[in-house]
Amino acid sequence: MGITVHDVQAFKRAGQRFAMLTAYDYTTASILDKSGIPLILVGDSLGMVVLGYDNTLSVTLDDMIHHTKAVCRGVSNAMVIADMPFMSYQVCVQQGVRNAGRLIKESGAQAVKIEGGRPFLELVSRLVDIGIPVMGHLGLTPQFVNVFGGFKVQGKTSEDAQLIYEDALALEQAGAFAIVLEGIPADLAKRITEAVKIPTIGIGAGPHTDGQVLVVNDMLGFTCGRVPKFVKTYANLAQVIEDAVKAYMIEVVNGKFPDLEHTYQVRLYDADK
Ligand code: KIV
Repeated sequence: MGITVHDVQAFKRAGQRFAMLTAYDYTTASILDKSGIPLILVGDSLGMVVLGYDNTLSVTLDDMIHHTKAVCRGVSNAMVIADMPFMSYQVCVQQGVRNAGRLIKESGAQAVKIEGGRPFLELVSRLVDIGIPVMGHLGLTPQFVNVFGGFKVQGKTSEDAQLIYEDALALEQAGAFAIVLEGIPADLAKRITEAVKIPTIGIGAGPHTDGQVLVVNDMLGFTCGRVPKFVKTYANLAQVIEDAVKAYMIEVVNGKFPDLEHTYQVRLYDADK
C-alpha cells in the first residue's frame, strides 16, 4: 500500500508540509506519481480543465469514474482522492452513500472529496462509518458558483469567516480526514489550521495551511486562458507544445520528416526469404 489517510494525518503531527496536485488522465498521473507527490486529486475541475465547460456543474459521476480509473491505473504510491460531482450527493444521505460507493468501487480511488460543511455532516460521518474516507472542502467551493455569483473569495466578513471556521470544526468532528480550504483570507486559513487536528490543504488560502494543492494544468502552464492570482506557474507547457507542433508541421511540409532514423528499412524481397 502507498500513502494512506494515516500518513496524511501523520504529516500534520510531524509538522511536515505537503503538496497535492490534480490529475485527470493516466500519463499525467504516472508522471506525478513518479515525481513522488503524496496526494493526487481527481478534481471536478476536470469539467473546466479537460472538458471545456465554464464551471464544474456539468460534470457527471460517470465522468468522474472514467477519469479516476485512468488516474488510478497510473499510480502506485500516491493516495488518490476523487471529487463527488454536483448533484451526486446533495439530494439525501442515501444518494451520497450510493454514489460515493460507486466512485470508490469502480474507480479504485481511496477517498472522496465533498464540497460544503454543515448540510453534509451526516453524510460525512456515514461514509466514514462504512469505510470511505472523506476530504472536506470549504470556502470558495466551485459547486456553489451560482450562489456566490462567481468564483469569488469567501470569508471576507467576520460572520462569513465564522461560518467557515465552524464548518471546519464540524467536519473534523464528523470524521473528515483532511479539509481543502479554497479562496479564503490567509488569516482565516491560519485560524482553522491551528484549531483542527486534521490537515488543511490550501488553494488560494495563503501560506499557513498544512498542505497546498494546485490544478496541475495551471501550475504547468498547460492552459488556454488566464489563471487565478494564487497560481504559480512552474513551466510553460502550452508554449512548448505550440513550438513543437510548429516545428513538426514545417518538417512535414519540407519533407524533412520522416527521415531515415524514423523509417523501417526492411526490403520486401529480404523479408520473403
Ligand atoms: O476540483 C478541483 O480541482 C478542486 C481543487 C481545486 C481543490 O476541488
